[in-house]
Amino acid sequence: MFRFPKAILATALIAASGFAMAQSAAKYPGVGRDATPKEVAAWDIDVRPDFKGLPPGSGSATAGQDIWEGKCAQCHGFFGESGEVFSPLVGGVTKEDIKTGHVANLRATNFPGRTTFMKVPTLSTIWDYINRAMPWNAPKSLKTDEVYAVTAFLLSLNGIVPDNFVLSDKNIADVQKLMPNRNGMTTAHAMWPGNEFNGVKKPDTQNVACMKDCAPEPKVASFLPDFARNAHGNLAEQNRMVGAQHGADTTRPERKAGDADVPVKPTAPKADGAGSEMKAVNALLQKYTCSACHGVDKKIVGPAFQDVAKKYSGQVDYLIKKMQSGGVGIWGPIPMPPQKITDAEAKTVASWIAAGANK
Ligand code: HEC
Ligand code: HEC
Repeated sequence: MFRFPKAILATALIAASGFAMAQSAAKYPGVGRDATPKEVAAWDIDVRPDFKGLPPGSGSATAGQDIWEGKCAQCHGFFGESGEVFSPLVGGVTKEDIKTGHVANLRATNFPGRTTFMKVPTLSTIWDYINRAMPWNAPKSLKTDEVYAVTAFLLSLNGIVPDNFVLSDKNIADVQKLMPNRNGMTTAHAMWPGNEFNGVKKPDTQNVACMKDCAPEPKVASFLPDFARNAHGNLAEQNRMVGAQHGADTTRPERKAGDADVPVKPTAPKADGAGSEMKAVNALLQKYTCSACHGVDKKIVGPAFQDVAKKYSGQVDYLIKKMQSGGVGIWGPIPMPPQKITDAEAKTVASWIAAGANK
């Protein structure tokens, strides 16, 4: 990705594929082999800020809107404003920012949030990230032209290009010149490492990978003390008003995920009290990332499984069908995408829900 100087990447690639393999083949005969050109090509998908690595193609914002509504909106909101769980992609940038290349709201202390397009300086990052990582529940499932289309739609939502814009490998460098925060990136800080410490080019924190006699499990040895929890005022009332996100209520002691006013993190349900059937259910909820959207006893993006269970007690067949077909409007305006879960797997999960969705 764009933070990785190509030299390091190239070295890593040689080390991983050619050099180390050749060495290990000589040192440990029969162990390992060279990566094939096809394997390297499948792995080598990064798109650089100068768009090196970008595959040719194109897509319109109009086509992107359909993709967005079908595959992205359930997590990021119809307008990129995002729901309660996910961070907002759109908002906070102005026509003036597009002219200057600096997002003024980043400096405005009264502006209540940070969206993706306020921060990101390079359009290549957006394209690359969507291409490799989104949709979250089915990464790398979009075709190249679909990545162009949905990127064009996001640009249009942010007012950077018109609604009918067609983004392509031919014009993407011109659109880069309109990115609202394109001049906002600096390397003069301790993370890159930058130049600000009188020429001492070191990051402010450093680490060396342990290769020998490593401690088996890291232990967290210190936590934020309770008295410091509210030291900066109540986070719930600060800085999180773009989209529906809110910080923790720091006027109260830290509470476990699942307590009344604590946002539930998208984690898999606990396997405690579980027999092997529960293990199978948990494995499926993870495999199909159901747990990203459904808690067992808490609503996340979709309803809590226990609420679904109350509504459809005993209705295994209905539940199987709904998992596979998806749907919208029963629990709210957010759609559930169709799940590619097999009949047998769907039956395992549906039987568990129909019997009460107990932990
Ligand atoms: C199941 C929920 C889900 C779906 C569906 C989904 N996303 Fe995401 N998206 C996420 C999460 C979670 C993150 C943050 C991931 C992380 O930080 O590792 C994210 C991050 C992103 C980001 C980067 C935001 C940033 O500021 O770093 C972009 C851009 C994005 N998604 C675009 C899309 C597009 C386009 C689609 C549809 C093709 C899509 N997403 C579908 C959950 C989802
Ligand atoms: C991207 C988020 C997301 C994912 C992933 C997801 N769901 Fe859903 N699910 C939803 C939403 C949103 C609804 C509510 C839809 C509605 O209101 O009709 C829902 C509804 C349901 C319902 C109730 C349907 C009805 O007719 O009332 C069931 C059952 C269900 N999901 C099961 C699953 C299972 C099992 C999985 C994994 C195989 C899964 N879901 C994956 C978001 C998701």
